[in-house]
Amino acid sequence: MTAPRTPKIPYGGDHNPEQWPEPVWDDDHRLFTRARIDTLTVGVFSWSLTQPAPGTYDFTILDRILDRAAAENRQVCLATGTAALPPWLAKRHPDVNRTDFEGRRHRYGQRHNFCPSSPAYREYATAMASRLAERYAGHPALLAWHINNEYGGACYCDLCAEAFREWLQNRYGTLDALNDAWWTTFWSHRYTDWVEIEPPNALTEHWRGPDHTAFQGITLDYFRFTTDALLGCFLAEKEVIRAHDPDTPVTTNFMGMFRPLDYHRWAPHLDFASWDSYPPLDAPPTWPALAHDLMRGLKDGAPFWLMEQTPSTTACRDVNPLRRPGELRLATFQAIAHGADAALYFQMRASRGACEKYHGAVIGHAGRDDTRVFREVAELGRELEALGDATLGARTPARTALLFDWDSWWALEISDGPSRLVKYQEVVHAYYRAAREAGADVDVVPVTVDPTGYDVVLAPVLHMIKGDLRERLEAVAARGGTVLTTFLSGRVDEHDRAFLADAPGPLAPLMGVRVDEWDARPPQVVQPVQLGELTCEARLVFEIVLPRGAEPVGTYGADFYAGTPAVTRHAYGQGEGWYVATDLDQPGVAWVVRRILARHDLLGPYADHPAVETATRVAPDGTRLLFLLNHAPEPARLTAHTTATDLLTGKRVEDGEPLTLDPLGTAVLRIQ
Ligand code: GLA
Ligand code: ZN
Repeated sequence: MTAPRTPKIPYGGDHNPEQWPEPVWDDDHRLFTRARIDTLTVGVFSWSLTQPAPGTYDFTILDRILDRAAAENRQVCLATGTAALPPWLAKRHPDVNRTDFEGRRHRYGQRHNFCPSSPAYREYATAMASRLAERYAGHPALLAWHINNEYGGACYCDLCAEAFREWLQNRYGTLDALNDAWWTTFWSHRYTDWVEIEPPNALTEHWRGPDHTAFQGITLDYFRFTTDALLGCFLAEKEVIRAHDPDTPVTTNFMGMFRPLDYHRWAPHLDFASWDSYPPLDAPPTWPALAHDLMRGLKDGAPFWLMEQTPSTTACRDVNPLRRPGELRLATFQAIAHGADAALYFQMRASRGACEKYHGAVIGHAGRDDTRVFREVAELGRELEALGDATLGARTPARTALLFDWDSWWALEISDGPSRLVKYQEVVHAYYRAAREAGADVDVVPVTVDPTGYDVVLAPVLHMIKGDLRERLEAVAARGGTVLTTFLSGRVDEHDRAFLADAPGPLAPLMGVRVDEWDARPPQVVQPVQLGELTCEARLVFEIVLPRGAEPVGTYGADFYAGTPAVTRHAYGQGEGWYVATDLDQPGVAWVVRRILARHDLLGPYADHPAVETATRVAPDGTRLLFLLNHAPEPARLTAHTTATDLLTGKRVEDGEPLTLDPLGTAVLRIQ
């Protein structure tokens, strides 16, 4: 199953009419019509209304919300609402509340904080999902199911401890296998009974927080267990929905690069992926782009939904800047360029009270339609309506893959040594950014990928190597492709046990190097690295590399390893393996990645315009769409490299003609 079929990009977002008297609903719908809003996500936080007491269900308000939506010709993404508990449930069954990392059992409050192993939670949540599905399966407004909301976090209660032990028994079968995997003879940890195993937290294996563990093996397994435990909650709700409604697509809203959950383990169970994009303050545009591509990669390149973004400002950060005029439009077209088939907001009307009353909304507290934000939302609604179905279902024909691996992320960041300062996302982003800024479309894919269709595979900080990945990567190079990996890759197996071999372990033959030792220094220590004409800077980790077939491409400039290789290239079969032994700055990474892309003729036509992003989508009928996104506040003056029609303006450009993008402007070129 895929995302719901719609005649145009669903446009709208989270709507909470249950917080308002009905005359306000009239205003909402009047304004929605004005802004071409056709899709409402409802019921995300309505459990305490739909079930005010254990045996009492009351769907009067939800009925009215859905009926009203249908009457207004709007579609509904219906949430099961199980992410925020009603107070009576927490009071009656205290085990639905989580026990935190410090071992404290929480009491009623907040949201997104239920224990995934609590039988009471499971029972009440699935009962709610089942009743909703029974009631609304055939409702004319129903477009998609939205289970729960932003699953995340971990629980360390006794129920979770018990569930963890069961999970471990399934994984390892015997305690001997577990002791071997976790290397428990170290510090006298050999377990002789499953009941001796405690969840890894501040009371057990950890100190100084969640990343400092004495035993990486148990901590990694707890991340995996938590991923599966929350997935179990999702699956239980999905199953009861399916019993009443075999056809309507089901999703849950992810959070992009979200460390606590391995979304690749979830992906097969969603009918379509969706996510909430709230890029960090001052993030470069490649940061949300990387997350979009990661989400697109979850379902093998199928389009995803942008389930939430703010029309103007967030509220949860210490400082919450506004999206400048034009930024919302640009961010929305960027999402579409990367594979989004829906553009939804949090939220339609600003909450009157509680912690999100200052969160941006399409309609503010004064209920006006003559605000800048409303005007921008309405103008975008008009453009999306005009775009119709042109982009729906379109795929991305990338020839460059970037491997993204939660296990490597976890293992790298919970490792003691060589450096706590290396951040997985930052290194991965640097390589992604270099490829995107050079104009390459990039698929961000799991390590289980079949890489046959790719010319270039980027595998930065791939700390853990599992399964037959080595063989698959070697095959890429053997047939003429290029594989890149970096420092701190190929170090550990799936249990975080070091390979009994020279680094980069299984990747060493492909890379043609042997890492002899490694130096880690504080961030102010800069190592100059010479790459052709470019002198760039490297920091944090400096691996000392002995070429074993590879040729040096760049060398360190200082310290006792001055003159030794920092970047190498190895001819392998018809292709190449590139090894980057240190944390190069962005110009250094760009130099390396552009070399590789150039070898495969993958540099884009606007590779010399750093603020211009390009992305290609190919519609189901074969039409090629080229998105041009100008991230600069000045116009971008380009030359068309093909004859095309801009779907947003209807204007035609001929190959070789000047093509100007407005400040923060977008063109969606249909290539002739
Ligand atoms: C998340 C949640 C929403 C809301 C927004 C605010 O994405 O899903 O309910 O809290 O954040 O940014
Ligand atoms: Zn628990």
